[in-house]
Amino acid sequence: MALIPEEMFADRIDGPEFGKDTAIYKFEKIKRAKAAFKEAHPDVEILDFGVGSHDGLAPESSRESLKRHVDNPECNDYADNGIIEFQRAAAMYMKRAFGVPLPGNDSGIKNYLVHSIGSKDALHLLPACFVNPGDASVMTVPGYGVMGTWTEYFGGKKLTVPLLEKNGFLPNLTVLRNTVEKFNEREDTGRVKLVYLNYPNNPTGADAPQEFYDDVVGMAHDLGFIIAHDAAYAGINFQEETTSPLLSDRGMDCTLAMYSMSKMGNEIPWRLGWVVGHPRFMAAYAHVKDNANSGQSPFIQRGACDTLNNFPHITPQITEKYHRRLLGMADVLNDNGFDVKMPGGTFFMYVPAPVSIDGVSMEGVPDLANPGKLLGPAEAASQVLLRDGISTVPWDDAGAYLRFSATFDSGERNKLIGCAEADERVLSELYIRLGRHNFEF
Ligand SMILES: Cc1ncc(COP(=O)(O)O)c(C=O)c1O
Repeated sequence: MALIPEEMFADRIDGPEFGKDTAIYKFEKIKRAKAAFKEAHPDVEILDFGVGSHDGLAPESSRESLKRHVDNPECNDYADNGIIEFQRAAAMYMKRAFGVPLPGNDSGIKNYLVHSIGSKDALHLLPACFVNPGDASVMTVPGYGVMGTWTEYFGGKKLTVPLLEKNGFLPNLTVLRNTVEKFNEREDTGRVKLVYLNYPNNPTGADAPQEFYDDVVGMAHDLGFIIAHDAAYAGINFQEETTSPLLSDRGMDCTLAMYSMSKMGNEIPWRLGWVVGHPRFMAAYAHVKDNANSGQSPFIQRGACDTLNNFPHITPQITEKYHRRLLGMADVLNDNGFDVKMPGGTFFMYVPAPVSIDGVSMEGVPDLANPGKLLGPAEAASQVLLRDGISTVPWDDAGAYLRFSATFDSGERNKLIGCAEADERVLSELYIRLGRHNFEF
């Protein structure tokens, strides 16, 4: 048999059609538009509210700790599903930051909490643990789609429920119940195994109240599904109350919650997080993980222990910085006619996109990158803003919204907190550039 590349690709990635799709997607279009702006206006700064990652370095003491542990012979090995020092620090953090109690002894901690190579990695492993061909996962839209994609890779079905502003960007519980029940009733399918929740939420910035989690936990027991709770932004929230499905009555029995060092410690490239849940389900995660990777390096885990042990020193400072910036962004956007509400958490401000800019409707705008297609209204608006060097991320999945991120570069990259004066410079420039337009909403 000859080696014909087209015949080699699995159907889950489009089989013989793999790599032939010429459509240009949202983030690539943004990248190209930014490059075009830079070339046309080399001296004009791009105000980049599109980036989704922090602009500061990890805390100094954590970086120092990581460096020290590179020389530690104990860290010179595979971590596999350990190391206990990180598990202890994460368990303690769960208690202190979120009020989630975990066992105090090492064997108990190991049963309830295992590290991940970041939330993304954990999300891609969950379908391998639970989804048989014909089963389904429910995903919220707009959102971070990794678990849905891997559900489909495993022959499962991705069901979606929208996050709408009128519901506080929470899934409507009746819609969620109907979605699960309708799928489970069908004779030709398996059942809904996983329901994805992500709060604080990317991109909407919404946080979820405890009553919402109580209701979903009740539904999980009633209908028999696992809540896959993506808590990648946990800690970056602006509410008094800490909420989690793990805090609901019987929440620990039906939830796998994924936490991450990425946002709450400015440690995105460290690729480290942890999963918490009932030992019965955690055993499946640990088993699949063990067959997928050999764990994050022990010196990275040791460095991250410093961040966790320094709570409440680190994350609240990072959160304060985003809060300061979000307040400034809200003022500028509101003054220009946008209807901005402060997010409950994350560093994202999710605002309704204008329906017209300078008298031109954002509906029916041709997509020049994909001939024959139209842009969604939010994407059309984002392209107009980009012509003025303002980069945002458009979402047209459930209403038309622009996401402005508080991770913009104010010229103080690498500082943990940065200063208000540096933010002010960027925000004043945003004010001037938005002021050139006439927005209608
Ligand atoms: C909602 C959400 N979940 C998970 C992730 C991945 O986080 P990590 O860096 O822990 O893999 C991201 C990253 O942006 C995210 O926005």
